[in-house]
Amino acid sequence: MRVTILALLAVISLSLTPALLAQDATLAPTPPMGWNSWNKFGCNVSEDLIRQTAGAMVKSGMKDAGYQYVIIDDCWQVARDKDGNIIADPQRFPSGIKALADYIHSLGLKFGIYSDVGSKTCAGRPGSLGHEYQDARQYAAWTVDYLKYDWCNATTQDAPSSYSLMRQALDASGRPIVLSICEWGTNKPWLWGKQAGGNLWRTTGDIKDRWEGRVKWPNGDCCSNGVVDIVDLQNGIESYAGPGHWNDPDMLEVGNGGMTDTEYRSHFSLWAILAAPLIAGNDLRDMRPEIRDILANKEVIAVNQDPLGSEGKRVKKNGDLEVWSKQMKDGSRAVILFNRGGADHEISVSWEDLGYPTHLEAEARDLWQKKDLGKFKSKFSSQVPAHGVVMVTVRP
Ligand code: GLA
Repeated sequence: MRVTILALLAVISLSLTPALLAQDATLAPTPPMGWNSWNKFGCNVSEDLIRQTAGAMVKSGMKDAGYQYVIIDDCWQVARDKDGNIIADPQRFPSGIKALADYIHSLGLKFGIYSDVGSKTCAGRPGSLGHEYQDARQYAAWTVDYLKYDWCNATTQDAPSSYSLMRQALDASGRPIVLSICEWGTNKPWLWGKQAGGNLWRTTGDIKDRWEGRVKWPNGDCCSNGVVDIVDLQNGIESYAGPGHWNDPDMLEVGNGGMTDTEYRSHFSLWAILAAPLIAGNDLRDMRPEIRDILANKEVIAVNQDPLGSEGKRVKKNGDLEVWSKQMKDGSRAVILFNRGGADHEISVSWEDLGYPTHLEAEARDLWQKKDLGKFKSKFSSQVPAHGVVMVTVRP
């Protein structure tokens, strides 16, 4: 009897140990999916925008396709009160953050917010330095489910310890909160992000709504990235991702107008095969059907959300012609034939490239045409449009 009571006490005390929450496999077991205000709206955020976006996420079928988090990025916060409590912009969020979170939860969605490691955010709003526990307690009281934590004005701060401090603060709040590390790959967060309790970490500087080209920021710092620049920076870090801890090549630009639909389809396919968080960044209230059909393609999303949690990688490169492959839990492969060049081209993938014996017969299914293509032996080839992809599953 005594042993049983002791064992019970041990279980209770273990389950109350805050540090254990960080290891909780239920936090982001597959890459988080949602929407974030920054790419389209920048600082122009308000409770009306966030409410309407949450509604549109449900109405458009995106919730049904797996999108969950509605995340306000920078500029929701304006100051601290005399006790140091963070204050939301009273003009833009007159009903307060808790009411907004309640509304989002009432739709069956989850709510995310943004802060920064330093004394100020990238847009110059108050950051969390010195207020980590106070802010985490406030987020928990507001029923926040996700924190994106940025790296501006970090001066001499140590990245792993700054992020694990916030992880500890979030855990101590008693609410399971996803921690999104946003330090742009500066200190190679794939090496320490999991240990710091991050559930995802940005691997690069910011994405912009362009196909390719790295462009310096107005202050001369390097650089924002196009889609293919970011893709190149993912090569070789795939082994650091897995359930609960993901490489984050930044949020989606699908639908923001700077690329063609073919390019957006490539962008989305590559993010899916990279097991990247799928955080839409367009105006969900006003989407062309073509854009909705990209963001809500359930077969492509199933590749991203596969429970094995293996990140895809480039298995073949021949100039502008590439093949990317991701191992799926059922033993099949998701495959992207990727044509970066400016002219249509045939691309072929051999079973050897996929780690299969050559003699195997395998079924291929096209995930954009949503069509079974039949059985293939030893290889699969297809014509791929300029800047386009053909995305298939290969199932022996
Ligand atoms: C940084 C981040 C962006 C965005 C802005 C907000 O640039 O990388 O994703 O959060 O700050 O100011």
